Amino acid sequence: MSTQPLSDAVWYEAQSRRTLARLLPRLADRYRAMTADQWLAFTQRLAAHFPRLFKLLHGVYSEQYDFFYYLEELLNIAARMWLERADELKVLDVAREQNPQWFQANQMLGGVCYVDLFAGDLNGIRSKIPYFKELGLTYLHLMPLFRCPDGNNDGGYAVSSYREVDPQLGTIEQLSDLASELRANGISLVLDFVFNHTSDEHAWALKARSGDREFQEFYRMFPDRTMPDAYEKNLREIFPDEHPGAFTYFPDIERWVWTTFHSFQWDLNYAHPAVFNAMAEEMLALANVGVEALRLDAVAFIWKQLGTGCENLPEAHLLIQAFNAVARIAAPAMLFKSEAIVHPDEVVKYIGQDECQLSYNPLLMALLWNSLATRKTRLLAHSMKARFKIPMGCAWVNYVRCHDDIGWTFSDEDAAQLGINGYDHRQFLNAFYTSRFEGTFARGLPFQENPKTGDCRISGTCASLAGLEKALNEESNVEVELALRRILLIHGIILTIGGIPLLYLGDEIGQLNDYNYYNDPAKADDSRWVHRPFMKWAKADQRSDITAIEGRLYQRLRKLIALRQECAALAGGEMDVIETGSDHVFGFVRSNGGERVAVLANFTEQPQSIEAYHIRQHGFTQDCVDLVTKIDIAFEHTLTLEPYQLYCLNAKT
Ligand code: GLC
Ligand code: GLC
Repeated sequence: MSTQPLSDAVWYEAQSRRTLARLLPRLADRYRAMTADQWLAFTQRLAAHFPRLFKLLHGVYSEQYDFFYYLEELLNIAARMWLERADELKVLDVAREQNPQWFQANQMLGGVCYVDLFAGDLNGIRSKIPYFKELGLTYLHLMPLFRCPDGNNDGGYAVSSYREVDPQLGTIEQLSDLASELRANGISLVLDFVFNHTSDEHAWALKARSGDREFQEFYRMFPDRTMPDAYEKNLREIFPDEHPGAFTYFPDIERWVWTTFHSFQWDLNYAHPAVFNAMAEEMLALANVGVEALRLDAVAFIWKQLGTGCENLPEAHLLIQAFNAVARIAAPAMLFKSEAIVHPDEVVKYIGQDECQLSYNPLLMALLWNSLATRKTRLLAHSMKARFKIPMGCAWVNYVRCHDDIGWTFSDEDAAQLGINGYDHRQFLNAFYTSRFEGTFARGLPFQENPKTGDCRISGTCASLAGLEKALNEESNVEVELALRRILLIHGIILTIGGIPLLYLGDEIGQLNDYNYYNDPAKADDSRWVHRPFMKWAKADQRSDITAIEGRLYQRLRKLIALRQECAALAGGEMDVIETGSDHVFGFVRSNGGERVAVLANFTEQPQSIEAYHIRQHGFTQDCVDLVTKIDIAFEHTLTLEPYQLYCLNAKT
């Protein structure tokens, strides 16, 4: 067959059909154990998604002489994992295919926690289901819970086995039972797919270390500094505190191993198709445990190419899309969520129905903190206007804090348009949030401060960064109230702006920084542990007491959550930033299901007035109801917002 096709599309179409026709009889023979129904469901999905999968993998691996062998292997893996998939999950597959936009509902609300820190172990998590339901969660992300090295394991992000739960937390059976029980309670389980690297104790790494050539190819290893030096010319340092550059020398094997993060996290070599297949199998195993959304960890780093920064390369996208096609074939209920904490131009490239349907929104997160520090909303409004829109059928996951540091990943170009110098402004934000700036309300710590580049990121809990720690220790009740309002303001925005809001559990009761991590040698060098405290259940028990700090926060946050659940306008992700005429007030309009709301947020500790016509011109009459306070608002010429007030105005009909 000529490789000079009329067009790529026609050629790929013909070749993928021919390939599938060759492979199907062999698959049928091998998987005779499937019932007629199972085989039909599998082959229908295969027919629908194989052409795409073929093209993607051909795009990455066509130069491999044994490409076809690996392709057949991949289909074998998909068929085997499909055969093993529980009936309950197959029912879910059909339901999700019939309603692929289920996650756009305004009832959607995510929560994330560590199993051990939040509830001891998996049984503990199970016992907290009533708590999750009280809060309104429909999605629960449990932080990495797989077997990992003792001591420092990067909070579980160094996985030694994707098939075994860390014995201190439970067993894989308990995890799968938990997934079912959560589902029965209307909560989808979300887990990480840590697929850029394994721990140096994973079976593949151990084999590589024992000299097995085949498994050495699973990683990126070099005998001397020639290649590492060549690569490092263009690499960003991710964890400079731990080791400079991206490689670690292992004397026992006399190799430099690619370790983007810690030296015990070995980057996988996706240039080898065996790695893609092996990880596709691990991914389907997670799906079969009952995971409904996978958080794709560190997506930006999975492909490396000499002479580039080795982040966000085109092949990374092809590979994620190929994983997506595999999931559509053998576990179609499962969604992908991208963790790309990179320049906003790059973040959006991972979002698509064929790639990651969900994505963290690190830009909104960083700019909410920026607006709290500066009391200005121009950069927030400007950036959201230009960058909030994402492909149809996808959703942002909006958050204010997560287990990681805050990086100031706004676009320097956006900032420059407003006359802001990105580098200088980041210096200010770092000073502000590490308490080095006079007058700051924040109590945070620097993370991975790099004297070579001046880079720094921020650690700290939401409450401590928003001023609650300082106010409780050093100030009056007025300051305490302002801190609570800051927390509620930014949560109010993630609950209303469009997409799935994600709570970092513990923030709902205002957990403060926990400096005890400093006493644990496995954690002391990583300031992110300051915002990974044990859940203080004695404090959570005060959540109904409106005289306690916890109750003052929790009850008001619950009201904002209820507001979201009840307001049809807040479903989906369409959002229009509106001009408010004030640099201190951020505003946007949401409409859906025949309802329309205007959200206005005052980012200062002073009252702010805005001209009423700014809102009226978006179809709001002078009589509105504020859904936050449930009070009728009549405005003629101006509308006044109290310090840190969030209005959610609903036009009266
Ligand atoms: C992700 C995780 C982070 C981890 C890193 C390496 O960014 O969120 O906690 O350190 O990947 O796995
Ligand atoms: C992630 C991000 C980086 C983040 C780190 C974890 O992959 O890209 O910005 O800080 O891992 O802290």
